[in-house]
Amino acid sequence: MTWWREGVLYQIYPRSFADSNGDGIGDLRGIAARLDYLEWLGVDGIWLNPIHPSPNVDWGYDVADYMGVHPDLGTLDDLDALVAEAARRGIRLLLDLVPNHTSDRNPWFRERPDFYVWSKEIPNNWRAAFGGGPAWTWDEERRAYYLHNFAPQQPDLDWWNEDVRDEFDRILRFWFDRGVAGFRIDVAHALIKDRELRDDVLDPEARGGVHRIHSMNRPETHEIFGRWRRLADRNEPSRILVGEVYVLEVAEWARYYGSGTDELNLAFNFALVHSDLDAAKMREIVAATEAALPSEAWPCWTGSNHDAMRFTTRWCGGDEALARCALLILLTLRGTPFLYYGDELALPNGRVPKERLLDVAAPPRDPGRTPMPWTPGDGGWSDPWLPLEEASRNVADQRDDPRSTLHFTRELIALRRSSEDLRLGAYVGLAAPEGVWAWRRGERTAVAVNLAAAPRRSRASRAGSCSARGASGRARSCRARSGSSRRRATSWPCSGRRRSGRAARETPRASRSCRASAARFSSASVRSRSLSGPAPGRRSAAPARSRRSTPTCCRRGPGRGRSAGRRRRSGRSRASRPSSATRSRGRLRGPSCRGALGSGARARRGSS
Ligand code: NOJ
Ligand code: CA
Repeated sequence: MTWWREGVLYQIYPRSFADSNGDGIGDLRGIAARLDYLEWLGVDGIWLNPIHPSPNVDWGYDVADYMGVHPDLGTLDDLDALVAEAARRGIRLLLDLVPNHTSDRNPWFRERPDFYVWSKEIPNNWRAAFGGGPAWTWDEERRAYYLHNFAPQQPDLDWWNEDVRDEFDRILRFWFDRGVAGFRIDVAHALIKDRELRDDVLDPEARGGVHRIHSMNRPETHEIFGRWRRLADRNEPSRILVGEVYVLEVAEWARYYGSGTDELNLAFNFALVHSDLDAAKMREIVAATEAALPSEAWPCWTGSNHDAMRFTTRWCGGDEALARCALLILLTLRGTPFLYYGDELALPNGRVPKERLLDVAAPPRDPGRTPMPWTPGDGGWSDPWLPLEEASRNVADQRDDPRSTLHFTRELIALRRSSEDLRLGAYVGLAAPEGVWAWRRGERTAVAVNLAAAPRRSRASRAGSCSARGASGRARSCRARSGSSRRRATSWPCSGRRRSGRAARETPRASRSCRASAARFSSASVRSRSLSGPAPGRRSAAPARSRRSTPTCCRRGPGRGRSAGRRRRSGRSRASRPSSATRSRGRLRGPSCRGALGSGARARRGSS
């Protein structure tokens, strides 16, 4: 298996991550200075949004020079140093490749007009994503219209032109040779346009009122990914391609993986991004994804990015407890999770007053791009390019608080790293009460998350087993309140035939002896549960020492709680003991994450 399947990736919006020289703009040296933090968090790779010279009409997605570094962000030497420093910590670096369009300031636009798509008249009904007008703008010099699927300053390249393909081969090789581990590919589904420039198909039922079957989503695009995959695989170690495949129809989206080994390595799953944080809806998307992917392909999950903005706001309405549920989901599904900087803090969208908006899109995406809050107060920034008006959820405070979402995320990542089931195990949906989503990973690990507003009592049945804990409506507001029950150990002793891969996903069968203890979970507390207790066939009678437990997902104020006190007295912080959560016992109180994770279960599947 490979690092990018097992690892956790972290998206950095470079202008907003960390500023090394106090000019208010995040930069490459700033990122390098925070590698210790990323290593502590446990991420395996980072993806940087575009770093190249650009007039910044679309903040880097209008590239003027594909082989350079924007002076705001640093130099090529800084990039080389960042790659090397990251590698020393076992962290790979992915860049953002923008092959669909360039900036109109890219010299190619004047020197190689044949690289672009031209027409003497507006040939079709294609619309630009930005500005809302036609996707065609008149160019006085050429006395023709050029195509731009986004802003007029972002002319689309003509991927039917072999020279464009050769040029991008050179670009890929240039960065691979510098040690870059791969690329996130911008609008990967859009590179090739219909050769005859035919109309898109209008349909009031379709997203945006149109089926974009000619301006994008062309089958010929797959040739390009095949070509790049061969190029990426030729390197040692092989490099990876991660597609921004903005296709919500899951079966269509899955095609970008090719056979599973000959096109994209990963493609972001936007069906999940666009879902509500709802157990039934998400379960359905994950089941459809698992069914649609070729057996050798690997899913890729994210909740936030610089376009969709932050899941803590979109999915969770700012509720930190729900954000922990989302993190639990992203980090324990089968597939590679991408966290967006700040997700690990349950960071909501920032507030950007109208007069400070900078984005070309409507509605503007600036609230999802505000600076990373490193400290309380000014967040560690001086006069940043986008405002940082609120830094109550920040790295410094959360690092000091072992009950914080930051520690929760870190411990989840550590748990994932230590568990082969969580890294590589098959996904099998489990039966669950309404509002609860439960699944099994591999042979011995079960995950359950209660997304309902009310507590759920979960009772195992012969038909399947699951468990989930609930939270009261009050917990949704993430106020600290005491949990009312002691943690109860739960075991799901099973024996069953080992099954893996597609077969397990499609036709799970569990052993007859699979039983589960009823687990009753009370209101807003979060528990660690041992699922590693008795031998198959026996039930645990009492709370057992937890060999593996859910990461602590409740929040206590600093200084509260016995275990925190013990840790302080002993001088050992959680930070230095990443496995402590997996050993923790005792009463956990506080607002809910409403997620529980256990290992040792081979629960039966009741639904997908
Ligand atoms: C997708 C990028 O993620 C987005 O930020 C950008 O505006 C468009 N592509 C156009 O490049
Ligand atoms: Ca700077």
